[in-house]
Amino acid sequence: MNTVESKISEMDTSETSDLAQALTHGLDPSEEKYETEGMADLLRKSAAEGIVLLENRDQTLPFTKEDYLAVFGRCQIDTFFVGYGSGGDVSPVHKISILQGMEEDPDLHVDPELADLYRKFSKENPPEEGSWGNWPYYYPEMEVTDETVQKAAKRCNKAVYILGRAAGEDRENRLEEGSYYLTRAEEHLLDQLNQAFDSITILLNVGNIMDLSWLKKYPKIKALAFVWQLGQEMGYAVADVLSGKVNPSGRLTDTIACDYHDYPSADSFGDPVRNEYKEGIFVGYRHFETRARDRVLYPFGYGLSYSNFEVSPISLHHYPGLTEIRASVKNLSKCPGKDALMVYLSADLPGSRLKRPDLVLVGFVKSPLLSEGEEDPENFMVSDYQISSYDADGVTGHPSAYILEKGTYTFYAGDQVRNLVEIGSFTQKETVVTKQCEKATTESTRELAARILSRLPQELSAFSGKVFETGKGTDTGNETDKSVNESGSGKGEKSLTLKDVKSGEASLEDFIRQLSLEELVDLSRGEGPMDSEWGSKGNTGIFGGVSESLRAKKVPPIVTSDGPSGLRLKHYTTLLPIGTALASTWNDRLVYELFKKEAEEIDHYKIDVMLAPGMNIHRNPLCGRNFEYFSEDPFLTGWMAAAVVEGIQSRGASACPKHFACNSQETGRNKEDSVVDERTLREIYLKAFEMCVGIASPKNIMTSYNRVNGVYSHYNYDLVETILRKEWGYKGNVMTDWWMQPGESPEFPGLKNNAYRIRAGVNVLMPGGRDYMDQGPHHSDPEVAKCMEPEVPDGLTLAELQTNAKHVLEFCLERME
Ligand code: BGC
Repeated sequence: MNTVESKISEMDTSETSDLAQALTHGLDPSEEKYETEGMADLLRKSAAEGIVLLENRDQTLPFTKEDYLAVFGRCQIDTFFVGYGSGGDVSPVHKISILQGMEEDPDLHVDPELADLYRKFSKENPPEEGSWGNWPYYYPEMEVTDETVQKAAKRCNKAVYILGRAAGEDRENRLEEGSYYLTRAEEHLLDQLNQAFDSITILLNVGNIMDLSWLKKYPKIKALAFVWQLGQEMGYAVADVLSGKVNPSGRLTDTIACDYHDYPSADSFGDPVRNEYKEGIFVGYRHFETRARDRVLYPFGYGLSYSNFEVSPISLHHYPGLTEIRASVKNLSKCPGKDALMVYLSADLPGSRLKRPDLVLVGFVKSPLLSEGEEDPENFMVSDYQISSYDADGVTGHPSAYILEKGTYTFYAGDQVRNLVEIGSFTQKETVVTKQCEKATTESTRELAARILSRLPQELSAFSGKVFETGKGTDTGNETDKSVNESGSGKGEKSLTLKDVKSGEASLEDFIRQLSLEELVDLSRGEGPMDSEWGSKGNTGIFGGVSESLRAKKVPPIVTSDGPSGLRLKHYTTLLPIGTALASTWNDRLVYELFKKEAEEIDHYKIDVMLAPGMNIHRNPLCGRNFEYFSEDPFLTGWMAAAVVEGIQSRGASACPKHFACNSQETGRNKEDSVVDERTLREIYLKAFEMCVGIASPKNIMTSYNRVNGVYSHYNYDLVETILRKEWGYKGNVMTDWWMQPGESPEFPGLKNNAYRIRAGVNVLMPGGRDYMDQGPHHSDPEVAKCMEPEVPDGLTLAELQTNAKHVLEFCLERME
């Protein structure tokens, strides 16, 4: 036992759990307990709004003062507040368990006897948290005797069962009991409850969706809700919904199928080497609503309220390039509530050779709180580009283009994919190209090489020639600069600092011109270690001012920190609801406000880049990191990601949407090849990133570990240069996920590792180099210079390195006072 463990074992953890937590997370227990003012309220509100109510028969919920509640399941105390891994691991000042939230609510009567039994059990059998990648999937339940259940049923008229599952990084959920399926102990408890109680409410304290086919076996289950993992205020948020202080308005962001094998990716998911995305664009409801309507338990967008709403069409106008849709939602019941108004498109395109899903989400908004009879009219603008299909191979005569095909486009509004009213339609007489793109990620090596060479940065003249001692072969012939030495300052010339650029006394180009090769290479990598001495304790590493010489030139160390559910530091920070719960609010405005608040904390801890949001598509319900991500739908994902990015960036720091792209599974995540046809890639897996870039202009983006069509994302010229930068106009910095695989360019033999990455437009290797770490964490990478030697055919050019540095320095400049 180490000192921390022995100290903790001496304590009564129920009284000193804060201290225990502080010690296990390496926090200084005497540290000031920083809390962002106003955060707790916003957090509670967002958490409650993410709860999705799926069943509420006999008006079981909200509970009334006449209800006496027997609460079962250890997760009432050992609540899962977040998932495991870099998207969790946050140390908040407190975490409100579901039981605590319910007990503190004056409107809920929780049976104290049963609660004490669980408290005792939990104390005597504390859950084991495991280690990285080997965390628990669930916590084994306390066995309760039939007698205990029956006695509880005498004292209480309703049972509540909190059923928990943990999700985590670097591993998948499993098609096993205790993960996707119920354990025998859980089934047994359900049997017992079903016999003893007339009314059971199930609260799913989970990060991922799970099998729900067992519901039909238990007729006494009257209410069911996904309460997800809602961060530090979780217990209060759950109590708010149970007691009716908050009228639930969360909606599913994924389809719940009857059986795992109904998911179209079921047979092509989880291979450690190669996964062919055979289902193409038919992901989630795009598949179910088109081809398998009868295999759905709860459809996409589904979620109940304590109120009833009516959605009505108002109007539809198709202007050149744009459709304006108006619809309204009205509250028909006494109880004030919010509804999620969604707009879907159905296209009837006779003779089309591009199959489309029957319904696609094209707009959504969360209504304000509506009182009885109150109506909320809403406007939606949908561009022709948004509703176009991508013709990768030219089957319509328009290769590599988004096209609006001739036919009829009908729009519907409603509050879930199966409860829709028609708003109107327009007819497109001729097929038109709405955006011409170029073939990407699927070309042959030769074609790609030619394309890359024709586009190498031409800034050489702007940067003018420059000789570097370490950069043999990079002389561009400008004799006047030959006196420049390795440290970059010309004889008799004043060495420029980045401060001179900031103050407007020098141009960024001039600053870059005087950088040595070593400095340029250093700008293309992080410092090396995580928890850098240059940032708040527990940070994820720095880039920018990683070396003495760069810092002497006033290049600031840029501090990064995980992650999507709050800053993962060795300090007290706010633990936010998981991504899926945030998206389940369907309230992008609220999500924006939450992250705007979070930005105050980001400033407090002097973090420059928050490594969030996680925004990969829920291709399969078993993906271990789905909890961090938003949805099976790219449109919802794109909007939510944009809201997070705008919030984070509202005070100047940067978000870092991740993982670009197709990090749809954790199995073999740093080797796996996601094989995706180009249409699917663009319409599903890249679309959310495209929206996020277009709407919110993130200043940093993180690539994924995996390969996309054979090429690692961190070497993927087409993903980064052709699509992200050229096609979408992205201006920011691109970094790798933490470390990258070694690799040699098939297009340019001789170009490898960091040089290969820089050519692909991936600016920074994070958190730094592993290969040359044994030479000391601050050592630069000598291999890059070798890839610039004249004998390397089509070797890396100085202009490429300088352009790379420019992306990094532009962000550094923004972070300077
Ligand atoms: C994860 C990233 C995370 C990074 C730094 C990686 O393992 O995939 O999402 O930001 O670590 O912790």
